[in-house]
Amino acid sequence: MSEQKVYTTNPNAKRLQLIDLEKVYPNKHGADVHAVDRINMDIAPGEFVTLLGPSGCGKTTTLRMIAGFEKPTGGDIRLGGESIRYLSPDRRDTAMVFQTYALFPNLNVYDNIAYGLKIKKLTRQEIQEKVMGILNLTGLMGLENRHTNELSGGQQQRVALARALVMEPGILLFDEPLSNLDAKLRIQMRTEIRKIQRAVGITAVYVTHDQAEAMSMSDRIVILKDGRIEQMGSPKEVYYSPVSEFSANFIGTANMLHGKVVGKQDDGISVSVLDMEISGIKTDREFVVGDECTLVIRPEACTVQEKGLLSAKVVFSTFMGSYQLYELEVGGNRFTVHENNPKNQHIYETGETARIELDVADIHAI
Ligand SMILES: Nc1ncnc2c1ncn2[C@@H]1O[C@H](COP(=O)(O)OP(=O)(O)O)[C@@H](O)[C@H]1O
Ligand SMILES: [Mg+2]
Repeated sequence: MSEQKVYTTNPNAKRLQLIDLEKVYPNKHGADVHAVDRINMDIAPGEFVTLLGPSGCGKTTTLRMIAGFEKPTGGDIRLGGESIRYLSPDRRDTAMVFQTYALFPNLNVYDNIAYGLKIKKLTRQEIQEKVMGILNLTGLMGLENRHTNELSGGQQQRVALARALVMEPGILLFDEPLSNLDAKLRIQMRTEIRKIQRAVGITAVYVTHDQAEAMSMSDRIVILKDGRIEQMGSPKEVYYSPVSEFSANFIGTANMLHGKVVGKQDDGISVSVLDMEISGIKTDREFVVGDECTLVIRPEACTVQEKGLLSAKVVFSTFMGSYQLYELEVGGNRFTVHENNPKNQHIYETGETARIELDVADIHAI
C-alpha cells in the first residue's frame, strides 16, 4: 500500500486520508445529490494522486472539501494524521491552484507571489528570499515586475503555481489547472508541474477529466464515477488491469469481447467467445464457471495480419505516421488497432478481410 512507499524526503509533505468522506447536496424536489459518496483514500507524503472522471463525478467537490471551501456532510479528512474537517481554509496547510488562475490583476508577479507571506507577517528579507527561490524554480525569474495581464496563459499558470508553492503547504491541490491552455502548452506544462512537484517533494492531489494528463503525471490515479471510487491504482495498474468496462474505456482505448467462463486454471480462466475457447486469460476477479465476462484487449496488443486468433474485416485504415490506425469489425464488435512501424508491414485497406493476432497474455478478463 501507499504508506509503505517513500515518495519524498521533504519533512513538510503531509499524508492525506479521506475517510468515508461524503457530500450530499439537498435538492428541493426531494432527490438528494450524492456528489461525493463515502470515499476512502490514503495518500502518502510526496505522492501525486489524480482524481479522474467525467464531468459531474465529484472531483471538484472532493477537492474543495479538502481545501475547506465546502463542508462535508459526513466522514473525515486527515492531514498529517490530524482531522482538518472543521478547520477554516486558511488554517489547513493546503494550497490550491485553480483553472482560472485567480491572480490579483492589480498586483505584479512578485506581489502576487508574496501576498500570502505578507499576510503571515514574514519579514521583508524572508519574503524576498522565498519569492526569489520560487521564481527560480518555476522559471519566472525576470518577470517579477510584470503585471499579470502582460503574461501568457502558461506564465499566468506558473504564477498561480508559484503563489501556492511559496506558502510551503503540506499538500498542493489542483483543479483542472491546464484546461485554459492550448493543446501543445498543456502537454508542456504537465511535465513542468510534475517536475516541480517532484523537486519540492510535496504531496499533490490533481483533478482532471483528461486521461492522458492523469497517465503522464500521476503516481496513482483515482477513477471516480457518480461520486464513488471506481478504481484506484498506478497508471500501469489501471491501464492493464481495469476493474470494469467504465475504467477500461476511461483510460486509453479498449477493445472488448463478451464471453462466458468455461474453466479455471492456476494461471487464469478459459473463456468461450466468438465460437472459440481461449485459455490462460488473466483476471483479478473471482469468476465461477458459467459467469459472463468481458475481455479487454488494448489496441497495441493486436497485429493485423494473414494469420491470427480473430477474423476481422477492415472498416477503416489510415496512416498516422508512427502507426497505422485500423478500425475493424470482429464478430459484431468494433476493434481499434495501432500497428506500429507501418512502413515495415503489409497495409490492409478498407474493405479487406484480415486476421488479428494477439498474445493471450495481453487479454484481461473483467
Ligand atoms: N453547490 C451545489 N449544489 C448542488 N449540487 C451541486 C453543487 N456543486 C456540485 N453539485 C453537483 O454535485 C455533483 C458533482 O459535482 P462536481 O464535484 O463539480 O463534479 P466534477 O468536478 O467532477 O465535474 C454534480 O452532480 C453537481 O451537479
Ligand atoms: Mg470540476
